[in-house]
Amino acid sequence: MELSKSEQSMYDGELGEACRQSMEILMALGKIYGAKNMIPVTSVQVAGVSYKTIGDAGLEYLMENVKNGAKVKVPTFLNPAGMDREQWQEMKIPEQFAKKQIEVLDAYAKMGISMTCTCTPYLVEIRPKVGEHIAWAESSAIAFANSVLGARTNREGGPSALAAAICGVTPNYGLHLDENRISDFVVKVNCDVKSNADFGALGYWVGERANARNPAFVGIKSASEDRLKALGAAMAASGSTALFYVKGITPEWKVKTGAEEVEFTKKDMQTTKEKLTSPEKPQLVTIGCPHASIDEIMEVAGIVKGKKVTCDLWVCTARKTKEKADKEGLTAVIEKAGGRVIADTCMVVCPLEEMGYKVTGCNSGKAAKYLANLCKQKVVYGDVGDIICK
Ligand code: F3S
Repeated sequence: MELSKSEQSMYDGELGEACRQSMEILMALGKIYGAKNMIPVTSVQVAGVSYKTIGDAGLEYLMENVKNGAKVKVPTFLNPAGMDREQWQEMKIPEQFAKKQIEVLDAYAKMGISMTCTCTPYLVEIRPKVGEHIAWAESSAIAFANSVLGARTNREGGPSALAAAICGVTPNYGLHLDENRISDFVVKVNCDVKSNADFGALGYWVGERANARNPAFVGIKSASEDRLKALGAAMAASGSTALFYVKGITPEWKVKTGAEEVEFTKKDMQTTKEKLTSPEKPQLVTIGCPHASIDEIMEVAGIVKGKKVTCDLWVCTARKTKEKADKEGLTAVIEKAGGRVIADTCMVVCPLEEMGYKVTGCNSGKAAKYLANLCKQKVVYGDVGDIICK
């Protein structure tokens, strides 16, 4: 790989041990994927933040980086942690877990990373532009950044994203290169797709069939950013989609002539939703996977206003979005109905199973997959208005 003078000095250890080790990680990745050079990134999103997912080994790795003088060179944000930093006691997070989680967050803070713990940094902190190179690590944020914003990022892992943040560069391969951003898999949508649960089911179905390809959708008449984030998140969870196109909606549309075509019908929508749900009554309903926008919080507030929910209700969001919801009185409406607006964390990365929940409702294709697979939950899947028990 060809390195610039400053990249070479990082690799040679002239800028300290943390930089040297990080450059080593990036070089190893570059070699595996055939990158010819490094490329500067304008922002990084680091995953591996919840103590539930990284455990003691991850915490030790972070401490080691801090000890070696790790400091980030570009604006860097965190994925959701395992708890709301302000409401963890009210959430009934076990104390030992909270202690470890605080140590993880402190380690990241010492490296100069913003404490924005969210999978939707593009809603609150940073919106990369078309063609901008970034290194993001949370799968739904990656799909959104590549597809809806037109930025360029690979699916980074926790260590490679952190290394990119410390060095300010990433190996130039995969979705950083135009030739890998072409779709050869067209999905013709032949039914109405309206709610987040609809887009989540569509994404779930497509993710299972796309393999590593970039899906291109035709037939979607309209889709807000909230719907596109639901679509991308589901595809990234049931498959490994990192880039998709929607004809007439996403800023880019690059499809190969002779691409394979599949059709998604009303029947596919129905069978996918049936597959994702169970007939139980949820103990907890979770909205906000990916983290809820202010419009999504408003939707929940509208549904529960003046009512009492008969199960626990969490709306998971970024702290800045929660602050907006607090100001607009939406949090108060949801709390009055018996729910909570929760920041910094989500239903999947908090220790849900340790907190006694067994049946959880959601309107997200991604949450449906991970609640079942990673959190031992029975899942109730559907539109917000249908799953919130009033
Ligand atoms: Fe975000 Fe958690 Fe879903 S990280 S995408 S809310 S699983």
